[in-house]
Amino acid sequence: MKQKESWTSQLGVIIAVIGSAVGLGNYLRFPGQMALYGGIAFMIPYIVAMILIGLPLAWVEWTLGRYGGIRGHNSPPGIFWTIARRRRVVYTGSLCVMLPLIIFAYYIVVEGWCLLYTIQYARGLMQLGSQAEYSQAFANLTGKTENGAVLTAWYSNPTLLCVALSFVINFWVIYRGISKGIEQFCLWAMPALILCSAIIFIRVATLGNPTGIEGQSFADGMRFICTTTASDKTILQHLANPESWLAAAGHVFFSLSVGFGLVLTYASYLKRDDDVAASCATAVGCNSFVEIVFGGMLIVPAAIMFLGLASINKETLGSSFTLGFQTLPCVFDQMPLGQLWGFLFFFLLFLAAATSSISMLQPAVTLLEDGLGLKRKQSVLLLGGMMCAATLFVLYFSKGLVAMDTLDFWSANVFVFIAATFQIILFGWVLGIDTGMSEMERGAQIKIPWVFRYIIKYVSPLFLVVVFSLWCWLNLPERIEEIRSNTTVQLSIGVLVAIEIFFLWVVSRSIKRWDAEEHEMLAQDF
Ligand code: ALA
Repeated sequence: MKQKESWTSQLGVIIAVIGSAVGLGNYLRFPGQMALYGGIAFMIPYIVAMILIGLPLAWVEWTLGRYGGIRGHNSPPGIFWTIARRRRVVYTGSLCVMLPLIIFAYYIVVEGWCLLYTIQYARGLMQLGSQAEYSQAFANLTGKTENGAVLTAWYSNPTLLCVALSFVINFWVIYRGISKGIEQFCLWAMPALILCSAIIFIRVATLGNPTGIEGQSFADGMRFICTTTASDKTILQHLANPESWLAAAGHVFFSLSVGFGLVLTYASYLKRDDDVAASCATAVGCNSFVEIVFGGMLIVPAAIMFLGLASINKETLGSSFTLGFQTLPCVFDQMPLGQLWGFLFFFLLFLAAATSSISMLQPAVTLLEDGLGLKRKQSVLLLGGMMCAATLFVLYFSKGLVAMDTLDFWSANVFVFIAATFQIILFGWVLGIDTGMSEMERGAQIKIPWVFRYIIKYVSPLFLVVVFSLWCWLNLPERIEEIRSNTTVQLSIGVLVAIEIFFLWVVSRSIKRWDAEEHEMLAQDF
């Protein structure tokens, strides 16, 4: 088997991985969680989760990806095959193909909303006034009140058109391949995104106290996130709350896009001696920089400056959607030249979402090529048809956004823990920590601290199991009850199971193919 594609440069792969990581999670999810879990106090669980699971998993995925890639495999099950020839192990790789696709099915819808807001801001149609108006506009846009609301009058519905356009852009990029598609797209989209973020940050930071109301200056906003003076709890009380630890751990996966198999696939296109240690640390550092500076230090102070401290509550910040699509438009409404800032912000959100969503398709495309022997065009068309059906499902079952929430919960909160645990065990225990670390250190431009050897082998798996058990204990009873009582939830789980079954079948075909190829090579050697 030959490796057909590769990144043009080391910078290209780093930017693509940063693109995969920097997404809606950085701009909408992180600020909400940071504000809700005590500002600076949230940084402690966040940093602990980064050190104990985020960074180790990212290093593991980069290393396993390159390991599999140089042995001719680019898909997660193929990479697992290069490490262990056991079928059970290889089948677990299907999770790393199914999970990103499930996330893609709802993420692309939100990406479409971002595109729609960008267009509406450009047309000057988004200055609506009160939060109630934005909330109504959001309900209309998402069809939250009734199933099928987005799909009726499909020919004139702007939401549907924007989701369709985002969908086509994603598949077009994937169709063009690793270097001509993903790398080229990220090489212009990421600098554009950082530039838009920096411009908005500088504007907000230089506004001083735009409303003239005491306690609503940029400095007050920064004081809110850098101290706990505005909160009625001390740092220790925040730390004693298990929810803040769970939120930090869950966020780290989503934000870094680790555990899903995305980085695994991207790294499989590296060359034998390409650096993984420093590249991975750079990508993790950049992702955290973006979410702390442009997420936490921009969005939370902006909300405080224009809407006051009272806006920092579960209703306005608890959900990424409320923060992004209802609270922030109110902020732009009150800013001088709000139309311009709104346009720039939603354009950057769209770019951030697009660079993340394209990475979610790549594991499946490579498995269809790698395992079934399909051509790029065939695998993109097959996947396109499948994802079109899944996205239409999410768009149709829009009432209360239940389908979206269910797919998000089971993929990004439950199965990702399982997939991540498999990967870290595969690295530390199956490949072996000594082989794994020397693989990671080959070509490395930095020295990985020795302590990570123990973190990866013992601490990370233990941490994952403990956090996952606690998470299940707190959330599963309610979610299982939901499965029993809600048809949309049942259908959503059905979609997830159907995609997993399909990829289990693809993996079984792939194993036969890889087996046959190996036997043929052995026969040729004789
Ligand atoms: N890592 C991507 C995000 O943060 C999925 O949105």
